[in-house]
Amino acid sequence: MRKLLAPSILAGDWWNIGEQIEATIRGGADLLHFDVMDGHFVPNITAGPEILSCIKKRVKVPVDAHLMIDNPDRYIPEFVKAGASWISVHIENVPHIHRTLHLIKDLGARAGVVINPGTSLSLLEEALRHADFVLLMSVNPGFSGQSFIERSIERLKELRKMRDSINPSCLIEIDGGIKEENIRDVALAGADIFVVGSGIFASEDIEAETKKLKEIISFAEAV
Ligand code: DX5
Ligand code: ZN
Repeated sequence: MRKLLAPSILAGDWWNIGEQIEATIRGGADLLHFDVMDGHFVPNITAGPEILSCIKKRVKVPVDAHLMIDNPDRYIPEFVKAGASWISVHIENVPHIHRTLHLIKDLGARAGVVINPGTSLSLLEEALRHADFVLLMSVNPGFSGQSFIERSIERLKELRKMRDSINPSCLIEIDGGIKEENIRDVALAGADIFVVGSGIFASEDIEAETKKLKEIISFAEAV
């Protein structure tokens, strides 16, 4: 399986965000990861569908919207309309996950279920059957620039086993604290999609750093 790199634009400089997004695309970004936070489910506030739509008008790369908001069902149609073709919601704050995943799919987007570092993987057993991808958080959601929680490597290996037995076509995405130093280990532990925020945007040369990370994950594909 080809491994995908998803720069998390939350970590970018919003004054220069267009230029920075273009640099990640020249570097080989496969998806743009768009973090949506509402100040309720997580303590931070970011951007909504209008900003997503403004970006999507300029770029062809698919946008992956990670919804860290209460009552995501209410906003999912707007995010699809704005151009998100991958949408993920947290298992911790969605009471009817089956309905929400099918709502996303019925609107024509890929449906993802996200799990926080402190939530047992066993909670995913049923949702995995209905999801196109599962997003394992390797930091507590809310901010970019946090340190990778090491235990995530074991959880990733465990999740990969669950995925292989329950729904082999479901992709595994990982998000939080991924950078040049640890991306190879994360790839070898079984991730298919790598969200990278500060690991790309804090670099002096965004295009070169994106290229470098793509090379590392492509190398891990062959192992
Ligand atoms: C955290 C977000 C992440 C974050 C990643 O809540 O979901 O996508 O922006 O940033 P880094 O890679 O810096 O941890
Ligand atoms: Zn995210």
